[in-house]
Amino acid sequence: MASSLSLASSPSSSMTVRSCSFFSHPPKLKLPAESVCPSPCATEPQRTVRPTSTRSQACVSFWFSSRRGLLSTTTTLPFLLQLSKFVEGSFPANASELNPNIYTNIKQEIRKVVSKAKAAGVLRLVFHDAGTFEIEGNSGGMNGSIIYELDRPENAGLKKSLKVLEKAKTELDTQQQVSWADMIAVAGAEAVSICGGPTIDVMLGRLDSMEPDPPGRLPEESLDASALKQSFQKKGLSTQELVALSGAHTLGGKGFGNPNVFDNSYYKILLEKPWSSAGMSSMIGLPSDRALAEDDECLRWIKAYAIDQNLFFEDFKGAYTKLVNSGARWRSL
Ligand code: HEM
Repeated sequence: MASSLSLASSPSSSMTVRSCSFFSHPPKLKLPAESVCPSPCATEPQRTVRPTSTRSQACVSFWFSSRRGLLSTTTTLPFLLQLSKFVEGSFPANASELNPNIYTNIKQEIRKVVSKAKAAGVLRLVFHDAGTFEIEGNSGGMNGSIIYELDRPENAGLKKSLKVLEKAKTELDTQQQVSWADMIAVAGAEAVSICGGPTIDVMLGRLDSMEPDPPGRLPEESLDASALKQSFQKKGLSTQELVALSGAHTLGGKGFGNPNVFDNSYYKILLEKPWSSAGMSSMIGLPSDRALAEDDECLRWIKAYAIDQNLFFEDFKGAYTKLVNSGARWRSL
């Protein structure tokens, strides 16, 4: 089946929600009965540094986030309720359990096109596709609709990152159809890993939308911390997740350490507040990054991540997984 997408194409021209030829051997999925952590919070790793005031208390093992490892994921109840709607009648697939070749192929093709230099743009794509999600109305999210939204001012510069992925997608689609939503979700995870960050396993099976998401849902860089928190809250993301995900800005040219290395430099540099001094240092960071360092609740997380990179990696993984599942509609198995 022809699969190459013109990025400039209109929604009606080439995007279709395709039936699944993807999973020829449906796995024995354990259904939501398994989702509640049998011993609440018993699986939560003990951490030496962890601000407690904002951490969500609900301990839930998402059956869809990793059945093999039953990863414990803390989340908010509203988000869970929304997720139960998303998966009604269809179930995301644990990529590594279905047909390991599919996931391996996708990662391999992505690694052929995503270099360290291109990683930042690819990771940014994830937020700009998934970040349109809103709990209220259960709309937007990780659905590939970014391909229709490239002319929006907030998406300036992302066309070239999508072009990078299009090459890999075209190749993959000759073997099996992969949605844009899956491509972008996996590519962001690979981008992080290529730059030395954590390995993040991503579920497969997202369906692509056939139209753009509502505009105006991505936070503007001029927002203060309270508005940023509110914006993330509407997406089901906590303050801790806001701070962890913002650590993605360690990649790219905003002055947080090596632009091609994913580490906790972002937090270390935020604590130094280099923008307070004159000269080139005053150029470091976006207003939204600086705003986080002015907020007590965010500052606790910034300090925690600045002194413990493993904690940052672990929390980034959890928040990233939640982000790429936000608003996703899944193929029926
Ligand atoms: C907290 C709210 C956020 C705001 C206001 C924001 C805004 C921005 C802006 C204005 C840029 C600069 C774009 C440019 O250079 O033209 C940027 C870059 C970037 N953003 Fe964000 N962002 C946010 C959260 C995120 C999240 C959650 C992620 C991913 C998980 C992310 C990933 C990136 C990356 C990787 C870059 C560097 C791109 C490059 O250099 O090519 N951002 N962001």
